[in-house]
Amino acid sequence: MKAHIAIFRALVLCWLFSATVASPIDALRFDLGLTVPSFLNFLLPDPLDVPIPNHRVSAASSATPDESAGEMVGWFDPRANGGRLLDYTTKKYGEPLNVIISGSSDPYVLTDEGFHDYAKSLGYSEECLGMHSGHLHDANLGDGNGRTTELFLARQYYFPIWGTCWESLAGGQHFRAWKQNGTMANSGAWFIGASKEHDSSRNHAIVPDGYNLGRDWFVDRAIEGRRWKSMWWKADLAWRNDLLEEGRKGVNHGIAQDGRVAILTVHRL
Ligand SMILES: *[C@@H]1O[C@H](CO)[C@@H](O)[C@H](O)[C@H]1NC(C)=O
Repeated sequence: MKAHIAIFRALVLCWLFSATVASPIDALRFDLGLTVPSFLNFLLPDPLDVPIPNHRVSAASSATPDESAGEMVGWFDPRANGGRLLDYTTKKYGEPLNVIISGSSDPYVLTDEGFHDYAKSLGYSEECLGMHSGHLHDANLGDGNGRTTELFLARQYYFPIWGTCWESLAGGQHFRAWKQNGTMANSGAWFIGASKEHDSSRNHAIVPDGYNLGRDWFVDRAIEGRRWKSMWWKADLAWRNDLLEEGRKGVNHGIAQDGRVAILTVHRL
């Protein structure tokens, strides 16, 4: 029992110390489904998520959808079949689906399990201990499935303790994801609404400019190239300005966004 308390104290001290230096949170990694041994793992030095130095950069244009018919390759415009690039947060308002992971990506990343690993490589953890705070959003990806509920909610770096989750000081990055796989547009692409929130004491409200910030945080890490366990990924990026209307109209919390959607094609290295 004493040993447990000592270990717990060490963990808390370690976390507090890390949280007080400049950009410390990258040093901490939490996996979901914690068991005591895996939890203790994080005391050991862990080189996860180091950006790849001088790694292969693939041609940016190769696998990205082209403006015309090439779009069929990796994803379909949801608007072509009654969908939209805002989710349904409430009856009237939605949050922008501002990142698309193209169906031309690494097939593993397109699976549920692989996508979770990929999200962890970027620095998100699955929502703490499976608890879902806040309500679920729907989206219509124009694939014939109509409105469906988000499949996946990821948040950045929680510190799990006593069955609750404390968001890190750097915290607040999160995203929701849906899969475009209905029979009318079966691309297998992930459509993602990324945003930056205040910490949980502010009830997960989005920060000013939080949609653009949340998207850019995701994208910056994706194109940098990162890893989870022994799997490395790096994404090609293309921007689309014509899928979402710029501004705050219909946008949840009345927070304006710039209307840009990042199309990522994720390659396994
Ligand atoms: C679409 O993908 C999700 C997530 O992998 C899965 O749960 C669902 O059954 C799939 N739907 C279809 C129509 O294949």
